[in-house]
Order: sequence, then structure tokens, then C-alpha cells
Amino acid sequence: MRDTSTQATPRTPALIATTIGKRFGDTYVLRGIDLTVAPGEIVALLGPSGCGKTTLLRIAAGLLSASSGRMEIAGRTVADGAVHTLPPEARGIGMVFQDYALWPHLSVLDNVAFPLRMRGDKRAVRNERARAALARVGLDHLADRSPGTLSGGQQQRVALARAIVAEPPLVLFDEPLSNLDRELRESLALEMSTLLRELGLSAIYVTHDQAEAFTVADRVAIMIGGEIAQIAAPEAIFADPASVDVAQFLNIGALIDGEIAERQFRGSSAALSVETPLTNGYNGRAKLLIPRTAVRAAQDGTLRARVRRSQFQGDRYLLHLDLGAGAHSLVCPSDVPATQGTEVALALQAERLRVFTTTH
Ligand SMILES: Nc1ncnc2c1ncn2[C@@H]1O[C@H](COP(=O)(O)OP(=O)(O)OP(=O)(O)O)[C@@H](O)[C@H]1O
Ligand SMILES: [Mg+2]
Repeated sequence: MRDTSTQATPRTPALIATTIGKRFGDTYVLRGIDLTVAPGEIVALLGPSGCGKTTLLRIAAGLLSASSGRMEIAGRTVADGAVHTLPPEARGIGMVFQDYALWPHLSVLDNVAFPLRMRGDKRAVRNERARAALARVGLDHLADRSPGTLSGGQQQRVALARAIVAEPPLVLFDEPLSNLDRELRESLALEMSTLLRELGLSAIYVTHDQAEAFTVADRVAIMIGGEIAQIAAPEAIFADPASVDVAQFLNIGALIDGEIAERQFRGSSAALSVETPLTNGYNGRAKLLIPRTAVRAAQDGTLRARVRRSQFQGDRYLLHLDLGAGAHSLVCPSDVPATQGTEVALALQAERLRVFTTTH
């Protein structure tokens, strides 16, 4: 067995996953995941239902063993192939789940102090630290209450205090806010990431809510079909999605089927023709991504579209448009409304367009 007692330095990654695979029977759920989380970094795992997010998190937590690959947490090998697995309690990580998972028979304070009790801290020390953690999430006044008497948002704050009280090398979050209503979700997501940053903690944050992932994370890993399709800062993923799947999952804009010939993309059904300089001499089938941010209604625009719906959004309108023969739809923000069925002219910002070559 490998040495598991390596000393972590401040620069040791919080997590290194190397070609982690997981299968249940004949079904491959994770296909060679490589992931490194730097110290103090928050990485969000974002992906459609069933893509393997929870499975990867459970492997990191030690609640599930990998079928293959290696994992280190803070310099310690916690999984090596299917053979060696360090049990959850020996990993010293913090966890926050969707369903709070607080102990109903313990007070709020004792819930938060639990990880300290597990590692043998004296009562006075653990109570003081637990109170400080509760104060950080704004709940020190509820220390003596029982968890069942708290609101959902308060319970999740208690779970967060419990996850950070021991200042673990890694905190794992699995959809922590999905049981809460939208407004609370947004404010709590911001609060959680602020707290993690103040404490300099590293985290993996699983969600299928884009806005939440972009709020909390330094980098976002887009997981599709058991693989990490792209990992980068949110802005970089939006500016340059790595594949059609990523663009589609994030709903970045319209994807138009067509063909590239001599550096010119022509839509198969839409009356659309744009120059595509960055295609390395490729000729053949392709998809053009027109991000929402690349389109604007403009009288001198070169692209024609028909208005399907004009949706008022408070501070602006969203125009739902059909491009040629209704084959493609496009959503575009506008300062003014448009009448259903009329034609509008659109200007495209060429530098924001992306082309993906396709084989079919
Ligand atoms: N114990 C198990 N036995 C068999 N299949 C499993 C088991 N656990 C998970 N799976 C399958 O693995 C796949 C990935 O599941 P996982 O829970 O990791 O998805 P997820 O990305 O977290 O999805 P969601 O967003 O819905 O929570 C799913 O198809 C699921 O049915
Ligand atoms: Mg899940």
C-alpha cells in the first residue's frame, strides 16, 4: 500500500483525482475523471441529471469506492484502484447535502460541534469553536434550539457551520440549496462562497443550477455523460464552449446546422452566411453557435428573423425569433418590444460566433 501519511503543505492541492472510473454492473457512470482542486479553490460540478456528479462526490467523501483510478485529498491517498479506500471518518472533510442531515436529537450547538467531538477535542474547546462557527453563519442565537424547529434556510446554515467548524482541507457540497426557494438560494449561495473564501477553504460544489455554479465557483467543471467536458472559469466557458454539447447544455445561444466552404459558413435552412476565419482550412459540415450576447436588433442588420414572441422582463424585452423557415430559434435581448409575426433585422457580432465541425 502507498504511504498515506504525506504531510500537506499550503500548496498541496486539496484534491487530485486521476482517471477515476466507476461502473455499476455493466453501466459506466464515470469515465476517467481527472480533476485537481487547488488550495482555497472552489470548483463547481455542473451537469445534467444522471451525469455522475453525486457519484464523484461520494467517491471523494469515501461513501462509495471507485472502480478504477486514484484520488488524493490534501496529499493523502484516499483511493487507489478498487482496492484501497480510506473510510469517510478518516478523511476529515466537511460535507453539506441537500437534505441537511442534521441529528434531530442533538442541539444546534452539538450538531455543529460534532466533527470536533469525533476528533477528540475537549468540550470547552469544541463549544467555543462551534459557537464561533455559528456566529459566522449568523445563527449564534439559535445554539440551544433543536434542528427540527428551524427553517430550511437556517438548517442549511447549521449544516454549513458543521462542515467548516474543523476547517477541513476540502468541503463537499451536493445540491445544498435545491430544497430552498429561489431568492434564498441566491443569497445563501453568495453567503456560502464568501464564507469559504474568508476561511480560505477548498470546495467541490455540485449543482445543476448554472447561476448558482457561477456565483460560488472559481472554476466550473461541465460534466456530461460521466466525463468532464470542460473545466474553466465561467466567463471562459461562455466565451469558448469546448463542444456542441457544452454549448447546448448551457443554452448559450442558437446552434445552426450548415456547411463551411472556403472560410464561409452557410446555414442549411436559414438564409445565413458568415465568414469563419478560424477554421484551419476545414471544408465540410459544421454547426455555428450564435450566442445570445452576439445578437442585437439593428435596422441595418444583415440577418432576417421573424418574431415569435416578445417577452417583457422588467428591465428589457426578450425577443424569441425564428431564423428562416422556422428551422432555428434564437433569443435576443431588446430595449423595445416587437410585434409577433413581424420581421426584424439582426446584427451579429462576428468575434463572438463559434464554429464546431461535425461529421454528420
Ligand atoms: N448504486 C447505484 N446502482 C446503479 N446505478 C447507480 C447507482 N448510483 C447511481 N447510479 C446511476 O449512475 C448515474 C449517475 O448518478 P448520479 O447520482 O451520480 O447523477 P447526478 O449527476 O448526481 O444526477 P442528479 O443531478 O439527478 O443528482 C445515474 O444513471 C444513476 O442511475
Ligand atoms: Mg446528484
